[in-house]
Amino acid sequence: MSAPALDIDAVLADRAVQVMVCCGAGGVGKTTTSAALALRAAERHGRRVVVLTIDPARRLAQSLGLAELDNSPRPVVGVEAAGEGRLDAMMLDMKRTFDEVISAHASPEKAEQIFANPFYQALSTSFAGTQEYMAMEKLGQLRARASGARAGQGWDLIVVDTPPSRSALDFLDAPQRLGSFLDGRLIRVLTAPARVGGRAYLKVVSAAVGSATGVMTKVLGAQVLRDLQTFVAALDTVFGSFRARAERTYEMLQQPGTAFLVIAAPEADALREASYFVERLRDERMPLAGLVLNRVHRSAASHLGAERAAAAAEELDDAEDPPSLTVGLLRVHADLMRRHRREQALASRFTGAHPDVAVAEVDALAEDVHDLSGLREIGERLAG
Ligand SMILES: Nc1ncnc2c1ncn2[C@@H]1O[C@H](COP(=O)(O)OP(=O)(O)OP(=O)(O)O)[C@@H](O)[C@H]1O
Ligand SMILES: [Mg+2]
Repeated sequence: MSAPALDIDAVLADRAVQVMVCCGAGGVGKTTTSAALALRAAERHGRRVVVLTIDPARRLAQSLGLAELDNSPRPVVGVEAAGEGRLDAMMLDMKRTFDEVISAHASPEKAEQIFANPFYQALSTSFAGTQEYMAMEKLGQLRARASGARAGQGWDLIVVDTPPSRSALDFLDAPQRLGSFLDGRLIRVLTAPARVGGRAYLKVVSAAVGSATGVMTKVLGAQVLRDLQTFVAALDTVFGSFRARAERTYEMLQQPGTAFLVIAAPEADALREASYFVERLRDERMPLAGLVLNRVHRSAASHLGAERAAAAAEELDDAEDPPSLTVGLLRVHADLMRRHRREQALASRFTGAHPDVAVAEVDALAEDVHDLSGLREIGERLAG
């Protein structure tokens, strides 16, 4: 079964599309695809684009002018933009984004308290879900800036890369998970003493909470528990706005102005992941533009089948003085053709399950993609 072709240029040219999100399993090419789409939108379609990248490889970051992590967009040098087009790029600094949110929403004293707390470091840099949460937060900020800008300034397209999570679903789930952690029962227990304030707590707190904190004091020690409590209590005061913002961004993702692209490698795991994600987007009524099948292998000499090539290699190898280079080339070709067939079988299994999802295939290039010309080449392949 063949899938409908994904017309990337039609999506990029559509002024109604203002946010594109590249999701997918780890290592499939989300960052590369985001950068390539953003570049093409500026160079071919005259769009004013900002691309939010997350953990780009060092050489790619350099060619986008992202040598330093400053958490705000900068113009990319070397872009040959069409018309009014331009390309800005930024790299997400998770910790700084977290700091910005706290500063914007807590009183200065509360903010100081939070920053100084030893647990803040842990939450803002390594808590599972923080990166996804902050990516959403940054997207919300960029979006506000884009639409708040005067005509002719700002951006008319935001391309969003997503964090290198194990699962594509993490981008949608992690903010909520972090949210329910911050909002959960553990937090209620921990904040109870701070809420009623200082010593008075001892008198007021219920037996349940009391025994829970009692256990925690034993396990964690009094000082650590106090740190945790004051931290969580301080964070609690900013949390309402936190959650409201994440919810707004989530709703924005459901608007028709958003286009999700699911990136997958032609491998069983990545495609299974892609399937889950496609179903999830449908359940949540989030607009899916299509699937990008990245790093597809094929041999240019596709008229020579794998079996014939392999058989010929065998036969030549049996000769008295075998032409080893020819034999080697035939075998490489046969392997490539088999791999291609396997990849196509996996792709058509996906298409069988999701016949209405448009697909674009991108060849595996010989080299890693780390500069504008590499990105242009990916853009060409994306456009078919
Ligand atoms: N079509 C392609 N041909 C050749 N190399 C590619 C292609 N697409 C991506 N790559 C390379 O594969 C590597 C991984 O790509 P990329 O960083 O875009 O993946 P990712 O999905 O963002 O990974 P992570 O989940 O870690 O964020 C990079 O070195 C990139 O240059
Ligand atoms: Mg990446």
